[in-house]
Parts: sequence; structure tokens; C-alpha cells
Amino acid sequence: MKTILGVCLSIVLFALSLLNTSDTTALDSGSDKDSLSFKYDVFPIIEEHCLPCHLEEERNMSRLFMDNYEMLMEGGFNGPPIEPGDPEESLLIQKVGPNPPFGERMPMRSDRYLNDEELTTIKNWIEAGAEDN
Ligand code: HEC
Repeated sequence: MKTILGVCLSIVLFALSLLNTSDTTALDSGSDKDSLSFKYDVFPIIEEHCLPCHLEEERNMSRLFMDNYEMLMEGGFNGPPIEPGDPEESLLIQKVGPNPPFGERMPMRSDRYLNDEELTTIKNWIEAGAEDN
């Protein structure tokens, strides 16, 4: 009798742990973060608002070049501008916000700053690990 109870208990616990795992998975996929791509979602925003100032050939004084993923992740004078997993700690996000830690708010000398949708796209991509995808 004791053993049967023990077995039942383990089955219940096992089932509960399964429930838990599927719960988190459901949450993650619901936020759409995993499907964001550097190439198709993030780079087009950079291309429109940050290039050509941040191209290597422009010799931008920040030495931050965004020609491609590798150069962007390497960063400029103030180090890597992306902290994978942590958008708020990422210099790039801080520089496009209203209170940049130094210098000008980006994109400098443009007719408009990034809108909420563009900002959310970049933030979510960083939060999901900032992969070259
Ligand atoms: C008109 C040219 C211009 C545009 C457009 C521009 N930048 Fe910049 N950026 C600069 C200059 C010049 C600096 C150096 C001065 C400063 O930090 O304010 C700089 C500095 C930076 C830095 C700091 C890098 C470091 O290591 O010091 C970041 C991050 C940055 N820009 C991000 C962006 C992003 C993201 C965009 C597009 C949304 C953008 N910039 C658009 C000219 C530009």
C-alpha cells in the first residue's frame, strides 16, 4: 500500500513539473521575442537611422561602426554597445533615449528619434540574446 501511494505521489509530482515547464514555454513564445531577427528586423532600423554616420568609411569620432553585426557588437570608444539579455544596460539603448549618459541623443541631427515600435524591436532582440540571426 505504502509503495503504491509513493508511486502515485511521484506521478503527481512529475505531472506537476511537466505542467510548470509547458507554462513557461507558452509565456516565452507568446511574447514573440524569439522570432526577432537581426538581419530582417534590427538592421533595417539601423540602416535607416544610424547609417551612414556609423559606417567605417565615415570615420565617425565615436569609432562605433555598424556596417555589420560583428562591428556593431565590437563597439567603439565606449566599448560594446550591446549587453545581450539586458537592453537597459546597453549603451545603444541609452544613447537613443532622452537622457544619454554622454554626448548627443541618437540619431543625431535627424528629423526624428526612434519611435516606440523601433525601440521595442531592438530592445526585444537584445533581451532575447542579441544573436546574429
Ligand atoms: C548624424 C550622424 C549620426 C547619426 C545619424 C547617428 N549617430 Fe550615433 N554618434 C554620432 C557621433 C558624432 C557620435 C559621437 C558623439 C556622441 O557620443 O554624442 C555618436 C555616438 C554614438 C554612440 C556612442 C558610441 C561610443 O562608444 O561612444 C552610440 C551608441 C550611437 N552613436 C548610436 C547611434 C544609433 C543607435 C543611431 C541610430 C538610431 C545613431 N547613433 C545615429 C553620429 C551619429
